[in-house]
Amino acid sequence: MKLLLLNGPNLRLLGTREPDIYGRFTLADAERLARETAERFGATLDCFQSDVEGELVAKIGAARGVYDGLVINPAAYTHTSVALRDAIAASELPAVELHISNTHKREAFRHVSYTAPVCVAQLMGFGLMGYALAVEGLVAHIRGVVR
Ligand code: DQA
Repeated sequence: MKLLLLNGPNLRLLGTREPDIYGRFTLADAERLARETAERFGATLDCFQSDVEGELVAKIGAARGVYDGLVINPAAYTHTSVALRDAIAASELPAVELHISNTHKREAFRHVSYTAPVCVAQLMGFGLMGYALAVEGLVAHIRGVVR
């Protein structure tokens, strides 16, 4: 099983970016935890981060037939991007939308997700641990353990 982890804009700044909201862990920490979790379940995981919407769209577009599923933290594009939503839908890959913070406790504009309706699940508010939980949930979904 091959999985792809995508992180959107400003997530390369994790560690120093608004630590009261996002914690002190780095993107490398999150990617390592996700990869270790995938391996624990017998899967492999590739990681990609971009601040550029089109690069994320292109990566998802190229994922079909290569990967079995996606974990994606679309960051701010969650709340704006029809293009990312369409890319996930077109890929026909199971995707888990992940957020470090609980966006429902934050500004109203973060309460809407353009991407969640084309994902199998949305997970938020667990900080770094979310990267492990999202991978575990995606593997279970792909294996048909989740009904
Ligand atoms: C985020 C939440 C988004 O609203 C925000 O724009 C981010 C990070 C999260 O992981 O909590 O950049 O996706």
